Amino acid sequence: MTAWTQICHIEDIPVLGSRRVARDTGLDVAVFRNDADEVFALLDRCPHKGGPLSQGIVFGTSVACPLHNWNINLCDGQAQAPDNGCTPRFEVKVDAGLVYLKADELVGHATDLTRPIAGPVTRKTTGA
Ligand code: FES
Repeated sequence: MTAWTQICHIEDIPVLGSRRVARDTGLDVAVFRNDADEVFALLDRCPHKGGPLSQGIVFGTSVACPLHNWNINLCDGQAQAPDNGCTPRFEVKVDAGLVYLKADELVGHATDLTRPIAGPVTRKTTGA
């Protein structure tokens, strides 16, 4: 039997927005809601350079990454052509207005992925 973890009420997710779910291990899960009240869940990490998809703009069944505007399909996490890449998706269900994620995925799915580290470029110098 599948164990589900209750996350929130669907009304707690803004329409055309998202809510982040923190995990003990791994990056957050971004739970999205579109204007048809469909709910989707992806790792909060763009397949391009790790941008926070939870801060993107939801349209239809896609989200536009806030960093470089890649469009990511909320159903399967695939970047839309011509871009190429995929972010892990999570099973989600809505029952009586409550949103659930699979308990085992919250604990163990895509926990090895990290966000790229931003910072200054270090340059090698050669001896004068
Ligand atoms: S990091 Fe998302 S489009 Fe570049």
